Amino acid sequence: MHIVLLGTAAGGGFPQWNCWCPTCRVARSQPHRARPRSQSSAAVSADGSRWFLLNASPDVHAQLGRLGLPAPTGARHSPVEGVVLTDAELDHTLGIVLLREARRLQVTATDAVRRMLEEDTRLLPVTRAFAEVRFDELLPDRAQGLCHRDGSPSGIRVTAFPVPAGPPRFASAEHPAHTVGLILEDERTGGTCAFVPGCGDLDEALLTRLDRTDLVLFDGTFWTDDELIKLEIGDRTARQMDHLPVSGADGSLVRLGRLRSRHRVFTHINNTNPMLIEDAPERAQVEHAGFQVGDDGMRFDL
Ligand code: MLT
Ligand code: MN
Ligand code: ZN
Repeated sequence: MHIVLLGTAAGGGFPQWNCWCPTCRVARSQPHRARPRSQSSAAVSADGSRWFLLNASPDVHAQLGRLGLPAPTGARHSPVEGVVLTDAELDHTLGIVLLREARRLQVTATDAVRRMLEEDTRLLPVTRAFAEVRFDELLPDRAQGLCHRDGSPSGIRVTAFPVPAGPPRFASAEHPAHTVGLILEDERTGGTCAFVPGCGDLDEALLTRLDRTDLVLFDGTFWTDDELIKLEIGDRTARQMDHLPVSGADGSLVRLGRLRSRHRVFTHINNTNPMLIEDAPERAQVEHAGFQVGDDGMRFDL
């Protein structure tokens, strides 16, 4: 199973168009010290040519170019077999409507996410006006095979599990499993990947689940709980925004430290997070603990 990190920044990207925080300033003036990143998304494929997107970001067009696929023979070809969603947040779903040229699209998500895309953001009805959209419901805690558009099995199984978080700000109702993590498993090699780009807390059950995976892609949004408050950018803490901070005694770096996973990688990194700067002490701390700061284009074969 091949996994490509298509985008590793949180909503807004890095640098963010309207942001002049210290980290965004470095990304603009010294990009070798803080590489620009597009909005969080990953792609998974068992055969290296047919891909499933894990969330569809507003940067999806540029991101698909990163897959480096050979030129197809026909005039039209979509390398995207389907999109698997962790939630209905805009940074994870706006790309769906941007894929509307792909005549046929599969969207795999929980029923709570489907309802928000139908009724709140209306991204599904809008996309359906242009393309045939097949919806495949993700039932929490049940492994289900991902199929290609032609119905053939991909050889990849996905299991969704609810994670601690609130629903998006625009949600008109809160239904169970509105925000999930995903475990992807290659049926042939047995390789596994956990994809958890948004997570407000880590309990024992979640840690046990992640501990069985080869690659953990985890929420690296904020370095500290009061990051946005200190910068006078926002008035809510990281935890209030349902993102467990990376640093601190109770942060994800310590909590995920005991995992026996081969690769532990932070993704969905907010533009304010100092670990984005290559020579920052925060970056050294992450790497010293055996973690990687996700970068666009990173590939893993599991
Ligand atoms: C989040 O990650 O908390 C959301 O994507 C917030 C947002 O949409 O700006
Ligand atoms: Mn986000
Ligand atoms: Zn910034």
